[in-house]
Amino acid sequence: MRLDVCFTPGEVAAAELGGRVAVVLDVLRATSTIVEALANGARTVFPAPSIDEAVRLAQNIGREQVLLCGERRSLPVEGFDFGNSPRDYTAERVSGKSLVLTTTNGTPALLSSSGARRTLVGSFLNLEAVVDALAADGGPVTVICAGREKRFALDDAICAGAIVLGLRRRLDGSLELNDAAVAAELLAQSRLPDLERCLGETAAGRQLFEVGLGEDVAYCASIDRHRVVPQYRDRQVVL
Ligand code: MLT
Repeated sequence: MRLDVCFTPGEVAAAELGGRVAVVLDVLRATSTIVEALANGARTVFPAPSIDEAVRLAQNIGREQVLLCGERRSLPVEGFDFGNSPRDYTAERVSGKSLVLTTTNGTPALLSSSGARRTLVGSFLNLEAVVDALAADGGPVTVICAGREKRFALDDAICAGAIVLGLRRRLDGSLELNDAAVAAELLAQSRLPDLERCLGETAAGRQLFEVGLGEDVAYCASIDRHRVVPQYRDRQVVL
């Protein structure tokens, strides 16, 4: 199986995704939040590229019909129902609901994957389920790390490497990797044993502690909490 990792969305031109399965990762925290919300019964998540777009989308759907969600500088957006903390997305709050979500890096990364044959939403929370889905599909894979402000983010890179490790176990090693995927695998081998601490020391992790949301780091480090594989298609993320 061919697997390429892009450490930032800027590395992948839409044309290169044709025929491929994309996996979008924003471990801290957008894709972890999407996985948590859908696993807890949310009907759909509409990713929006900006606050204005999110508000417009919510108004078009009907403000009463949706939960308006998202962050800027890790904090909930004023007037929104929820921020981007996966711990907020309990079954009691989101079951049966449609969500509109805008985040700094994660939702733009999702939107950048629209040229792919399929787009899966990954995180540590649903790691094994994503690996199983990729192995079952068998097609070439592009892992798109959301990164941070268009730059490399260690949390996403370790998760990308964990996907490589998982596929290597499933496929008896027959993987063809780009250099970024090789680097990600090495990172995962050295950092997975101490994942929570390592995520806490990333730039995104430190920012979460600074704004009092440090508990999200441990939450996003909990591997295989859910067996769901959200897919992004027709401008929404669904199970
Ligand atoms: C993002 O999309 O940039 C992140 O999820 C930011 C965050 O949740 O703090």
